[in-house]
Amino acid sequence: MSEFFWDNQIEYLERTRGLYYNDDYLEFLIQKVWRINEPVKIIDYGCGYGYLGLKLLPMLPSGSSYTGVDKGEALIHKAKAVFSSLPYPTEFIWGDVEELPIVNEYDIAMCHAFLLHLNKPENIIQKMIQSVKHQGRIICFEPHWIANMANYRFEGLAQSQIIPLGILQKLFEKDCDQRGKDGNIGILVPALLSQLGLKNIECRVSDKVNFLDSNVDTAAKNELYNALRAEGIGQLPGEMTETLSQLMQRGLTADEAKSQYEAERLLSEEFNMQSMLTYAPNMKISFGTVVK
Ligand SMILES: C[S@@+](CC[C@H](N)C(=O)[O-])C[C@H]1O[C@@H](n2cnc3c(N)ncnc32)[C@H](O)[C@@H]1O
Repeated sequence: MSEFFWDNQIEYLERTRGLYYNDDYLEFLIQKVWRINEPVKIIDYGCGYGYLGLKLLPMLPSGSSYTGVDKGEALIHKAKAVFSSLPYPTEFIWGDVEELPIVNEYDIAMCHAFLLHLNKPENIIQKMIQSVKHQGRIICFEPHWIANMANYRFEGLAQSQIIPLGILQKLFEKDCDQRGKDGNIGILVPALLSQLGLKNIECRVSDKVNFLDSNVDTAAKNELYNALRAEGIGQLPGEMTETLSQLMQRGLTADEAKSQYEAERLLSEEFNMQSMLTYAPNMKISFGTVVK
């Protein structure tokens, strides 16, 4: 079994990707916003099992190709297996994006939920820029955790009981300061693209608002509930003393840590298949044109 964290997260990735975008919204982006009407060569940095390729290739002009790069060996095996029975031109490269040589030949370099895991995302965006042609495009689908946290409604509980926004805001900022990884990177990417010289920069937001309806009982609802669980919603917090100590190490005061712990405990107790929950992940989709 691989020791690389993401190689052991394939089930999580497969369960949760459906929470972010409706297919018609991705089609809208391709056709109306990016106006892609000729075949394109795409490279996806930190591709995982090829989620973006699976979603976008059927919507792109025929002849479009998809190259995925990932550090997870099991993920690359999985991606190859997934695409082996599909009719699209694909290539999968196992390797660390930070060390891979750059090939200047793509029309679009993209990434999904990737930059937030890097200490120096601007270096990788620079690589993405170098890997596309003149007038090529960079597209980054990245999370904006605090916007995500603001997008919960749980029937029967005040939002502030389960999501203490101010505390979480501080926690995400402290995490970024301490670990150099930014869960709010989605809202930062437009500025990074501008600093790196891209033109025509725009940013959109993911469209999907997931609704777990306590009044229906369908297979789709079951799947959504499992996806929400896999996303971490209603997860039982760890043992209290240890969790409080970890939260304080991450920069919260004792009172803030207790409030955060209580909020997580309450949601974990209340969340079940019969809950009525509305939740939008609020990914930011930033893009711009490369001028060489
Ligand atoms: C949250 S997952 C997203 C995967 C995929 N983009 C998706 O949305 O399904 C982050 C991915 O980044 C990959 N990754 C992290 N650091 C990497 C690096 N230095 N080089 C290549 N891939 C990396 C991980 O292996 C993992 O597949």
